[in-house]
Amino acid sequence: MKTTGGTDDQKRRAGESAAEAVTDGMVVGLGTGSTAGFAIRAIGRMVDAGADVRGVPTSFASRELARECEIPIVDLEEVVSGDDPGIDVAIDGADQVVLGEQSEAPAGTLIKGGGAAHAREKVVDSAADRLLVVADPTKESAVLDRSVPVEVLPDARATVARAVRAAGGAPTLRRAKRKDGPVVTDNGNLVLDCAFGSIDDPASLARTIANMPGVLEHGLFVDLTDEIHLGTNDGVRVIEP
Ligand code: A5P
Repeated sequence: MKTTGGTDDQKRRAGESAAEAVTDGMVVGLGTGSTAGFAIRAIGRMVDAGADVRGVPTSFASRELARECEIPIVDLEEVVSGDDPGIDVAIDGADQVVLGEQSEAPAGTLIKGGGAAHAREKVVDSAADRLLVVADPTKESAVLDRSVPVEVLPDARATVARAVRAAGGAPTLRRAKRKDGPVVTDNGNLVLDCAFGSIDDPASLARTIANMPGVLEHGLFVDLTDEIHLGTNDGVRVIEP
């Protein structure tokens, strides 16, 4: 998995702290990224010790890591349409998070999608009873001002880019690092990273982007977070927005 931001120790503390919320019998949404990866490994150790925990991956990468950790994998369709109670908790990372102190945007608002996994992440995270966000201090911000990743159908790249410009944003096609051409998501689509400067009203921008024809999903996560586990140099802060 890609890695960004803080130190491994900070990320490990955040991931392991959130994994403590997982108990025997639970179905867990497995987020994507280096911080969520620490939670997945901790859940793997619980399974190894005999816990009955099943995971719903949010990406190719989190499925691969769950397999490696021998966490039984279950399909989203199976847990939401069968007799199963659904997803008890999802643990996921973020590229930027508002903590609520000295900020205008509501606490817990996120920008995700640095790994281009935000579409499946949003489906799984919003299907869960609780979303625990795991992050390090480099992700904390009083205002959301990172580019918003927008997954688009390949044919809609130009029309969505035009609509983003009309909405005041500057779209850039995300390019692959070790492949010629663009990043192609797990769903076969492209990603436009859209710079809007400081986002004063994330809920309104989220609606504007979601309404653009050809947009599969964007990385603004509004009103989904139940807890933030922020790993620091000497411990973990758990913040309830
Ligand atoms: C994946 O697309 C993202 O939403 C990740 O959850 C986010 O990039 C956090 O990743 P790190 O924990 O590696 O920073």
